[in-house]
Amino acid sequence: MRPLVNHENEMVRTVIYKEYFAKEKTQKNTLPHAETYDFLKNVVINADVLEALKYVPDESVHLTFTSPPYYNARDYSIYPSYQAYLEFLDKVFQETHRITKEGRFLIVNTSPIIIPRVSRSHSSKRYGIPFDLHPYLVKNGWEFIDDIVWLKPEASVKNRIGGFMQHRKPLGYKPNSVTEYLMVYRKSTEKLLDWNMRSYDYQTVEDSKVADGYETSNVWKIDPCFDKVHSAIFPVELCKRVIQYYSYKGDLIFDPFGGSGTVGRTAKALDRLFFLTEQESKYFVYMQSKVKSLSQSVFKEHKTQFLTLEQFKEKSK
Ligand SMILES: C[S@@+](CC[C@H](N)C(=O)[O-])C[C@H]1O[C@@H](n2cnc3c(N)ncnc32)[C@H](O)[C@@H]1O
Repeated sequence: MRPLVNHENEMVRTVIYKEYFAKEKTQKNTLPHAETYDFLKNVVINADVLEALKYVPDESVHLTFTSPPYYNARDYSIYPSYQAYLEFLDKVFQETHRITKEGRFLIVNTSPIIIPRVSRSHSSKRYGIPFDLHPYLVKNGWEFIDDIVWLKPEASVKNRIGGFMQHRKPLGYKPNSVTEYLMVYRKSTEKLLDWNMRSYDYQTVEDSKVADGYETSNVWKIDPCFDKVHSAIFPVELCKRVIQYYSYKGDLIFDPFGGSGTVGRTAKALDRLFFLTEQESKYFVYMQSKVKSLSQSVFKEHKTQFLTLEQFKEKSK
């Protein structure tokens, strides 16, 4: 049966690998599954994510939830080309894969974006970010699990249908975009989810169980959130659902594109730990101002720390 590990069908290859080869893989010397390193707990770093991740050990985070920059659609995201942008995200999610614990999840919030036309004699250009990013993630060992659609009220989004309402000419139809994607991936492993769940003690599992009233479909109706300082923040409700459905209490939640810190604050409120990176100083400072008004985490020994790259480098030694 062992030669079937090279079979053309991927399902056959996976079964043969699990039965005959997986156990032969040498186990890396890592921390117990439910634990992580103290120097990463409740830490925010003001740096480029790729620089910061150089100091993060393999298999240290339990969940990543993030919304990457929207290519060049907003002021803070300037890339030389769309290809360069995708390759940057490819590197970030390769590194995220390295630091993610076996069989744990990555949830990426993106949507197609539009770059406005330069003048009336040119067209605007639409980029299908979720679809273009997906092949990179799968190639790098992220197994596709689910596509969740975040549905917003039509009144809250930009009006694109106005022109068509006037002329009604086919081909000129431009629907209002009321959705974004939450693409759900799992770090590929031959281990079942049950293995991950059994890594937690009885009390943690009981305390982490999702309460009644949870979402049952993959369409989540949630109002967007507007902020005076940051132009693209997560609604707390969106963060709450992702963190509750995809992590256990005490887990370390990572957001490589921290922004205003919504993932960190929500993780803290749900008795999880967080680790964020944010390169723009103005958002880093904004995050600090927001944390001051918050109650203490249940993890009193892990006070929130805002660090420069140099300070983080020192702590990682
Ligand atoms: C879409 S926003 C995230 C907003 C966040 N989800 C929130 O709730 O506030 C993306 C963020 O990524 C940051 N960013 C862009 N490139 C980065 C990089 N290379 N390293 C770290 N942060 C980066 C931007 O400054 C921006 O704040």
